[in-house]
Amino acid sequence: MAAANEPEVIRDKAAMRAWSRRRRAEGKAVALVPTMGFLHDGHLSLISAAAAASAGPVAVVVSIYVNPSQFAPTEDLATYPSDLAGDLRKLSATGAVTAVFCPLDLYFRGSAGRPTGASAGAVSCLEDAGGSGHESWIRVERLEKGLCGSSRPVFFRGVATVVAKLFNIVEPDIAVFGKKDYQQWRIICRMVRDLDFAIEIIGSEIVREADGLAMSSRNVHLSHEEREKALSISRSLVNARTAALNGNNHSQQIKHQIVQTLTEAGGQVDYVEIVDQESLVRVEKIDRPVVICVAAWFGKVRLIDNIEIQTAS
Ligand code: PAJ
Repeated sequence: MAAANEPEVIRDKAAMRAWSRRRRAEGKAVALVPTMGFLHDGHLSLISAAAAASAGPVAVVVSIYVNPSQFAPTEDLATYPSDLAGDLRKLSATGAVTAVFCPLDLYFRGSAGRPTGASAGAVSCLEDAGGSGHESWIRVERLEKGLCGSSRPVFFRGVATVVAKLFNIVEPDIAVFGKKDYQQWRIICRMVRDLDFAIEIIGSEIVREADGLAMSSRNVHLSHEEREKALSISRSLVNARTAALNGNNHSQQIKHQIVQTLTEAGGQVDYVEIVDQESLVRVEKIDRPVVICVAAWFGKVRLIDNIEIQTAS
């Protein structure tokens, strides 16, 4: 890895903003790829998409920040995997990243101060009895409900808010999100439209392992056996798309088939939904571009995946 390809690591908000402004003054577009680290090839594909997003020169910034406000107290913030040294090596090796933004903490904690224990880290104005902590949130009111929002009620509030903060700090021209997190991508598009962020949002295709499992930082927590069982997700989605393209346009039947496949494999289904690609409203008949979204538990790991269907006969 050539030294010239080493990305600059920036930890401070003001330094990050100043860096971006300098790049823009040099005539470069700034493209942001927000991540929570523990990077895999899915994340790295977003960097290629960012680098290719503009006809002119682009400075690509990858942010690495495990955002506490998108985890409920019962969720896996404390065990979320991280490997900053490994991430920086992978980013250098791409040769396409100009800066890595790794803030220590993006929230004002007020009198609660910086959290310590294993369950600490949740961000909520309600925790700060002193009244000087973070209390501003972005809610994309309809899109944040349903799908992952049903079982994770504070998740998208946390995502939208931290992404807006990253947009305000990095001031990118372009930002890239994976369609692996389909609802997240649509929520960010809606937030950008509704709140007039001058940012082009790019949705990038899902990257899978050779056997079909969608890449995810959480896959490391799967045992060998759970991983085998989890292949039922991508398998059932591909079969569902084939059925739809062969003329079965009954959502209910197709959903039932997926639930059955996942359950037989030993998964615990959180949801299987067939929704309009833009509005994420449930469809009874597959008669427009839809996406089939799945969330299911295999052991202690909750996995999500989806497949788009552009047309049905
Ligand atoms: P994280 O899970 O680290 O994912 C960062 C980005 O990588 C997201 O846009 C996600 O959709 C994309 N990604 C993950 N796995 C992918 C795969 N297999 N193929 C393609 N893209 C993939 O999503 C988040 O972090 C956070 O919610 C964040 C947006 C950073 C806000 O905290």
